[in-house]
Amino acid sequence: MQNFQFYVPTKVIFGQGTVDQVGQLVAEQGCKKVLVHFGGRSAKASGLLDRVCASLQSAGVPYVTLGGVKPNPRLALVYEGLELCRKEGVDFLLAVGGGSVIDSAKAIAFGLANPDLDVWDLYDQRAAATACAPVGCVLTIAAAGSETSNSSVITKETPDGDLKRAYGSDLCRPRFAIMDPTLTYTLPDYQTACGCTDIMMHTMERFFAYEKDNDVTDNIAIGILRAVKKNALILVNDPKNYNARAQIMWAGSLSHNSLTGCGIVGRGDWATHQLEHELGGMFDVAHGAGLAAMWGSWARYVCDAQPARFAQFAREVMEVPATGDDMIDALAGIAAFENLMHELHMPTNLPELGVTATEQQIETLAYRCTYEHRRKIGYVKVLDESDIANIYRMANQVPDPLFT
Ligand code: NZQ
Ligand code: ZN
Repeated sequence: MQNFQFYVPTKVIFGQGTVDQVGQLVAEQGCKKVLVHFGGRSAKASGLLDRVCASLQSAGVPYVTLGGVKPNPRLALVYEGLELCRKEGVDFLLAVGGGSVIDSAKAIAFGLANPDLDVWDLYDQRAAATACAPVGCVLTIAAAGSETSNSSVITKETPDGDLKRAYGSDLCRPRFAIMDPTLTYTLPDYQTACGCTDIMMHTMERFFAYEKDNDVTDNIAIGILRAVKKNALILVNDPKNYNARAQIMWAGSLSHNSLTGCGIVGRGDWATHQLEHELGGMFDVAHGAGLAAMWGSWARYVCDAQPARFAQFAREVMEVPATGDDMIDALAGIAAFENLMHELHMPTNLPELGVTATEQQIETLAYRCTYEHRRKIGYVKVLDESDIANIYRMANQVPDPLFT
């Protein structure tokens, strides 16, 4: 087991009806003025925004609002939010939404606390933040885990295609997260499934960075994966099942609050996430669906480096019977995971995602994924530009079922 630090300062307020505590929670932060940040449509349409504003008013907390955050949140709105916050004297960011809204709020918070920096330089890995304004959130989709995570992902629109980049720092972990599973009842089925996929991936990215005899973390990871698999399938037929929504929502935070990374080498593998971020930038796909479309190709490309770990995943998560041959079990586990994705109506390759990349687009994706030759990605196998392009090429084809 490796040494580690585990720092999760977020106060979680979990359960039905907890939204109405938001005014009091913000008031406890002792701030002067709040920016209520939200997305394109759902928070307004469901009446959630009105409930949040009413709670702030009754707690005597002054606020301004800024909506319009898109999935794959854009840098331009972050700059707009920054300007508004400076003009209005905002010193607390309240995100009402999913990962995109929370990440946009985190980016504004970094900008507010680091006035000498262009906030994009953080995401472009050219600068580090020394502070972050406080953020709180009311979560409306179980997926990205941003409600307790140390990271934020922002997309910059450029004439040569958009760039989606992540920045990680404990400074941006939210002060509190209100997590009411009933808020996720209004989600489209597709977004529910994208979220369940992302949650599994956050644990899998760490699980495949194998560390021997790391029993506690391994068992937490396997437990989370089994719970998400079971409850994601329940939601396919029964989307208003409170308990399944609650299990998924709690798993979303535990998957990405660093718990499943305790004691492992480094931070995890994260190649699938890096591959998806380029797809998100170029094709504006939903994050969870992009991960689902890439994972099988990544897994087949690297599994010979860790057949025993992939075989364990097959047996203990996907419940594939053991044959005694790790490589056979590993491949069966990958196929079983792809079957699960299909049961959730998720894609398992780029054409199913609705993307057919040209060879030139694949080369651009691979080049950008190396941050223009500034890095390699992955841990199970360290992947250079040509490996990355090969994985995109694999994902770009519909696999022959006889060979999967
Ligand atoms: O904008 P609205 O109208 O709210 O619609 C959203 C959006 O279209 C909708 N939605 C959210 N809650 C809803 C709802 N619709 C109906 N009822 C509700 N209760 O769902 C759509 C997706 O929302 P989004 O916030 O984009 O989803 P998610 O939480 O999956 O966030 C994805 C973003 O987070 C990043 C992703 O890359 C992507 O940009 N990630 C952030 C991470 C982090 N900060 O730690 C880690 C992740 O790996 C991920 O990269
Ligand atoms: Zn993710």
